Amino acid sequence: MITENKHLILEEGREINDKSSWRSPSNIAIIKYWGKHGVQLPRNPSLSFTLSNAHTNTTISYQRKADSNKEISLKFLFEGQRNEIFESKVSAFLEKVTPYFPFLTQLDLEISSENSFPHSSGIASSASSMSALSLGLCDIEKRLFNSFEDDNAFLNKASFISRLGSGSACRSVYPKIGVWGVHSDYSGSSDQYAIPYIEKVHEIFTSFHDDILIVSKKEKEVSSRAGHALMEGNPYAIPRYAQANSRMSELKEILESGDLSSFGTIAESEALTLHALMMCSNPSYMLIKEGTLSIINKVYQYRKADNIPLYFTLDAGPNVHLLYPQEYAVPVGQFIESELTKHCEDGKVIKDFVGMGPQKLS
Ligand code: PMV
Repeated sequence: MITENKHLILEEGREINDKSSWRSPSNIAIIKYWGKHGVQLPRNPSLSFTLSNAHTNTTISYQRKADSNKEISLKFLFEGQRNEIFESKVSAFLEKVTPYFPFLTQLDLEISSENSFPHSSGIASSASSMSALSLGLCDIEKRLFNSFEDDNAFLNKASFISRLGSGSACRSVYPKIGVWGVHSDYSGSSDQYAIPYIEKVHEIFTSFHDDILIVSKKEKEVSSRAGHALMEGNPYAIPRYAQANSRMSELKEILESGDLSSFGTIAESEALTLHALMMCSNPSYMLIKEGTLSIINKVYQYRKADNIPLYFTLDAGPNVHLLYPQEYAVPVGQFIESELTKHCEDGKVIKDFVGMGPQKLS
């Protein structure tokens, strides 16, 4: 349980001037989180693969303030340039997490962040950026107060803090697979933070690929925040949450057995269910585009004709994530090149795979 901690305050006269740098990856949910309540608490449990190539690097430079002003003091640079829009968002986030890191008001902060993928690539960067930032904040706490019992306690708090920034970000702090939300089949699971996947996993999933086909680079018309809120009046919300719960149980068995066909059935249905929920909310909206549908139909045909276990999933946007085992990387790569890149904006594809989680850079 993470609690507010009033004791994390710097004693008078202690000089501080240091920095902490972290790289944290994005993740792709196989069981989707869609619908929330309270302070960023999920309506259903979710499970994701942690990625590798799509990541954010964040450096927090921190120095003791010269005055006793209690405001957050922040300068925020995105890709080397001062960015005032991001600065005010990050500043609001830091204010929100100050009860957990009260020393933040005693520091002048300069945060510099960059993504491995272009900002306007249609890839949601909130999971990688909020987790990188939260890991940095926990690292500063660790250095200043030596307050974590062990690495598990450190990652637990980093996940909790990430969740306050962006729900799905809380799963990114763990290697390979993260689970967020209470579920009776997952011991230690919580709505407050994600946990690492400690169950048996068939080796086929530990090197799984996720190639992200960028159908549109535009920012989506309806934010995830608005989408989650619309679940509150959605007539299918209750059965959806029940479905996610029972799929969490099914997926646990599938991840152990390596049953690719059942894995693909769940992954694809989760993606289509997510978008169906958007289409039947009030007001309804649609984030998939023509290119999304063309790619999905070609994946169906290719899988049938070539008997290759290639599956898709979608985030809350038009881009398509292609999931497949490492041993099919060559034929799938050729298929993407010859048939699918024509549906992508500027032919853009980000090749990614299940990764080892965040990394401390300094
Ligand atoms: O973390 P948020 O609030 O951006 O919500 C993201 C939700 C999905 O990406 C659609 C699903 C998920 O579990 O990641």
